[in-house]
Amino acid sequence: MRLLVRDLAQVATPAADGATPRRGADLGAVTVVEDAYVLCSDRRIEAVGRMRDLGSLDGEVEEVDGRGHCAVPGLVDCHTHPAWGGDRVDEFSLRAAGATYEELHAAGGGILSTVEATRALGEEGLGARVERHAAWFLGHGTTTWEGKSGYGLDRDTELASLRAVRAAGGQPTWLGAHAVPPESADADAYLDFAIGEVLPEAGRIATAADVFLERGAFDAQQARRYLTACREAGLALRLHGDQFTESGAIPLAIELGARSVDHLEATGAEGAHALAASDVVGVLLPASALFLDRPMPPGRALADAGAALALATDFNPGSAFTASLPLVCSLACTQLHLSPAEALTAVTVNAAHVLGLAGRAGRLAPGLAADLVLLDAPDWRYLAYHLAGDIVAAVVREGQVSYRR
Ligand code: NIG
Ligand code: FE
Repeated sequence: MRLLVRDLAQVATPAADGATPRRGADLGAVTVVEDAYVLCSDRRIEAVGRMRDLGSLDGEVEEVDGRGHCAVPGLVDCHTHPAWGGDRVDEFSLRAAGATYEELHAAGGGILSTVEATRALGEEGLGARVERHAAWFLGHGTTTWEGKSGYGLDRDTELASLRAVRAAGGQPTWLGAHAVPPESADADAYLDFAIGEVLPEAGRIATAADVFLERGAFDAQQARRYLTACREAGLALRLHGDQFTESGAIPLAIELGARSVDHLEATGAEGAHALAASDVVGVLLPASALFLDRPMPPGRALADAGAALALATDFNPGSAFTASLPLVCSLACTQLHLSPAEALTAVTVNAAHVLGLAGRAGRLAPGLAADLVLLDAPDWRYLAYHLAGDIVAAVVREGQVSYRR
C-alpha cells in the first residue's frame, strides 16, 4: 500500500547520511524542500521531492492533503520514564511552596513514593499506564521512544515495566539503578540483588541499561559495577549524570563506551570538552531543568565544543511531567540557544543514534521508516517557535496515519 502526502508547504529533514551522530556544523544541517511531497510505500519512505517533479503514480495510492502543513521526521524521544503509578502532584505543590526536589527525595518522597505506587499497580495496571503515556507521545509527534523501568526496583515490577514498554511499542531500558529501595540495607546490597536476580531476565527484554549517578543515589564506583555487568549481558549503556553535581558520569561513560550521558545541567568546561572529544552523545533534558527550576544544561557551550547532542523530554511524574518534544525544542532554542535546525537534529537523527536506530528512523529519506509529523504551520521552524502550540496536525507511523488532531 502506498501513501502520498502531497502539497506540503515544506519538508524538513536532517541532511544526508546517518552514519554517526551529528556534531559541529553538521548539527544544524537541515535540508528543506518547498512545495513538496512524501511518498510512502508500505512501512518505508519511497521518495521525497518537489510537487512539480512528481510523476503519475500507478496502482492504488492513498492521498493525504498537506496544504498549509510542513512535514518533519517522526520525533524520537530517547529518554522517558513512562512506567509508573500514582502521581506527584502533592510534591509538585510542595515544591511550588519552596521545598526542593533533593530534599523531598532525601525525606523518602520523590522517586521512592512513585516506587510504592508503581508496585501497587500490578502488571495489568502498569501496562495500561504505559499505553496511556505512549498515546500522549504519539499526539506530540513522537513515533519512536525509549522507556525506562526504575520505579519497581523489585524483580517482578522491574520486569513488568520492561514488558509494558515493549508491548506499547517502546524501546525498553533497564534503569535498575535508579534509587535504593527501602527493603535494601544499602546501595551495594541492592546492586548485588539487582545484578544477581534481575539482570539475567532484564537483559533479555531490555536493549539498554541506565543508572542514576548522583549524590543520594549511586556513586561512580557503584555505577561502574552495575554498568559493567549490564554490558557483559549485552546491553547498551546510558547514564543519568551531572544533574545536580559533577560526579564522574562523563569520564565513566567514556571509559565504558556508553551510548549517552543524560542531563548535564551541572557540567563544567572540562566535562564539556571531554564529552566533545568522545563518541558519547550528550542528551539534554531542558524540560526537567524547567520543571525543577534548576539551571539549564550548557547546550550552546556543548554544541560549540563539538559535542554530539540529542534532546529528550525525560517524561516522568517527578522532574518532568511533559510528553512534548516540540516544547523541548522551544526550550532548546530559547534557553539553551540552539538553533531550530540543531534542535530538529537533536530530536530526530541524533536521538535515533542514542537508541541504535539511526538506520531506520530520524530522517526523511528513501528506505527509512515512513514516520513523519505534519505540523500545522507554514514554516517547519514553528516546531520550536510555537511555544506550547497545538502544532501536531497528524502523525504518520510506518506508512499509516496513526494520529489526527
Ligand atoms: O531523570 N534523575 C533521576 N530520575 C528522573 C526523575 C525521577 C523522578 O523524579 O521520579 C530524571 O529526572
Ligand atoms: Fe531521566
